[in-house]
Amino acid sequence: MTINSNPQSLIDELHQLWSHHNFNELASDAVKHLTSGSATDWGIPADVESPITPITLGGGIPDAGTLPKEELLDAMRRALDAPDDEPLRYGGGIGYEPLRHELAKRYTRDRHISATSDHFLLTNGSADAIDLICGTFLSPGDIVISEAPTFSGTLRTFRGHQAEILSVGIDREGMIIDELEQLLSKLETEGRRAKIIYVISNCHNPAGISMSHARRESLLRTAAKFGCLIVDDDAYGELYYTPEPPVTLSELSQGQGVITVGTFSKIIATGLRVGWVFADPSIIEQIVRVRFDMGNSPMLHHMLWQFMQDGRLDKHIVNMRSLYSEKLESLASALHEYCEPYMSFQKPSGGFFLWAQLHENLDALEVQREGIKQGVIFANGHGFFPDHHDLSQHLRFAFSWVPHEDIQEGAQRLAKACAIVSDNNRK
Ligand SMILES: Cc1ncc(COP(=O)(O)O)c(C=O)c1O
Repeated sequence: MTINSNPQSLIDELHQLWSHHNFNELASDAVKHLTSGSATDWGIPADVESPITPITLGGGIPDAGTLPKEELLDAMRRALDAPDDEPLRYGGGIGYEPLRHELAKRYTRDRHISATSDHFLLTNGSADAIDLICGTFLSPGDIVISEAPTFSGTLRTFRGHQAEILSVGIDREGMIIDELEQLLSKLETEGRRAKIIYVISNCHNPAGISMSHARRESLLRTAAKFGCLIVDDDAYGELYYTPEPPVTLSELSQGQGVITVGTFSKIIATGLRVGWVFADPSIIEQIVRVRFDMGNSPMLHHMLWQFMQDGRLDKHIVNMRSLYSEKLESLASALHEYCEPYMSFQKPSGGFFLWAQLHENLDALEVQREGIKQGVIFANGHGFFPDHHDLSQHLRFAFSWVPHEDIQEGAQRLAKACAIVSDNNRK
């Protein structure tokens, strides 16, 4: 072995040695399964730019004006003023008990489940909650069933876990359970079984629907018959614009066979990165066992607990519901006024998205492309399907973040884009 005291020559030698290797060879199969590094797949083409400042109907993030900055600062100050240093120490893999207790009180009050803090695990947003559930239940090659369409970020998580993703269509009532039953029976005859059925039963992303009560009951029965866990992604469940929320899968089943994931991202701010898993304590224990990141930030847990005192979160959510339903009304009426010749849609019952289906002669990629040129950005439907193929040509418009006063103009730009694509197709 040569001992070389010249640091530069060591660097040169290492450079020379490493130049023979390729880091891609070291990458895991998970990395090789993933084509993109982004959780959201709007399908925006890289080679088109807006000549004007675009109006963005893209991401599912809260309205900028609603972010409760002062209240969060105040809550953080109170959290850090605590006599001990608990918020600044490791908090353990399951998360701050008083915050889990607070969530349990809300689930008991709103969903009529006798929930305790033992039913909750705090995570780095609901995306992490889903990742942890996959890490707990899936080995490479295991089957998961999702709705088609569904949230593209979760499809990416399933791919990362090298799951085989099968899908079942949805209609106005949610997942088509007859189709699910047929698929599960077919798998059974092949000696195979799906481990997870992933649904967004409330305020669906991207489709905006909430599953009907009858479908919920059938889903619970079918999943139990075939022994598949239901993972209900409830990211938008509290943001409903109907007089009453739907009865949740967790309430109907009293938690049996259902894991629910939730998040503060949509009801407060996506940057918090705090979400949760709600499940039977025996499932929570299993998830904690495969959690290797030592938990997420106790400081944020303490802050959120402070923020939730005195009904502050409840008041905030009530205000959000009325703001977003007003924005939705504006978007729906502007689309009716300007875009009716080009698309149809059903008004969503909650959440952040309106899912529109283009009329026959229009292609979603072409409209999206022309939209960018006209100064309006939105997602095309393809990324929301496990096979990246949306036969029915949809567009997804997010109305949560766009300034209210831009909605009308956004719809006008969209109508112009549709008219141009339609004219080109006629030529
Ligand atoms: C349906 C759905 N689930 C999960 C997530 C991830 O949210 P979080 O910020 O809680 O990780 C999103 C974000 O857009 C979503 O739409």
